[in-house]
Amino acid sequence: MRLPDLSCALLVSTALVAGCAQTDTMKTAHSTPWAAYGTPVTEQELAAWNIDVRTPDGRGLPAGSGTVAAGKKLYDAQCIACHGEAAKGGSMYGSMVGGIGSFTTDKRVLTPGSMYPYAPILFDYIKRAMPLTAPQSLSDDEVYAITAYLLNLNGLVADNATLDAASLAAVKMPNRAGFIVDDRPDTHAARCMTDCQPLRTPPPPAAK
Ligand code: HEC
Repeated sequence: MRLPDLSCALLVSTALVAGCAQTDTMKTAHSTPWAAYGTPVTEQELAAWNIDVRTPDGRGLPAGSGTVAAGKKLYDAQCIACHGEAAKGGSMYGSMVGGIGSFTTDKRVLTPGSMYPYAPILFDYIKRAMPLTAPQSLSDDEVYAITAYLLNLNGLVADNATLDAASLAAVKMPNRAGFIVDDRPDTHAARCMTDCQPLRTPPPPAAK
C-alpha cells in the first residue's frame, strides 16, 4: 500500500510535518518509523501505528505487564516534573488522583480515577501521548507499570498488583455508570449509508 500524498497535509505535529519534507525514509525522534513519499508501507510499519484500544473491553491492548512498584520508579523518573509527587499535581497539570464520588457534589474533581469509565483508557492515553516531551517512547511493559501505579494511587488496584491486558480490562472504574447517552432531540440523526438526501445547509443570513 502507498500513503496518499494528502497524509502529510493532515498531520499537525511540527516534528512530523518537518518529516514530510524529506524524500528518503527517515525516523522521527519518536520510536515509530515514518514512511516517505512514494515508498510502500510494510505491514510491520503499519502495525506500529495501529495502537488503538477498544476501551470498554480492552481489545487491542498489547502483550506485556507491569507492577505498581516498577510504575512508581518510572513515574518518578519521567512524569513527576509535570505531574508532581504521587500525581498530586505539578508544574504542568493538576491532580491525577482522588475526586472519586465528587461528581454528585458541586465541586467536581476530574482525575483518571474519578472520571474515566474504563481503565484501558489510561493505558491508551499514556501510550500514545505521554511523556509530553517524548510520546510513544515507553515500552508496553512500562505503560502497564505506570498505569498500575496511577490506578494504585487512586485506590483502584492493590499495592502488589501486576497489570496486563486481561487484569487491566477487569478493573472496574468507579464512574463506569456515570455517563449518559445524550438524548436531546436535536442530536437524533439516523445514519444513512446509501441514496442519502443531500445535506441541508442553513439559509444565508438575511441582508441587513
Ligand atoms: C512536560 C510535561 C509532562 C510530562 C513530562 C508528562 N506529562 Fe502527562 N500531561 C501533561 C499535560 C500538559 C497534560 C494535559 C494534556 C491535555 O490536556 O491535552 C498531561 C496529561 C496527562 C494525563 C491525562 C490526565 C487526565 O486527567 O485525563 C495522563 C494520564 C498523563 N498526563 C500521564 C503522564 C505520565 C504517565 C507521564 C510520564 C510517563 C507524563 N504524563 C509525563 C504534561 C506532562
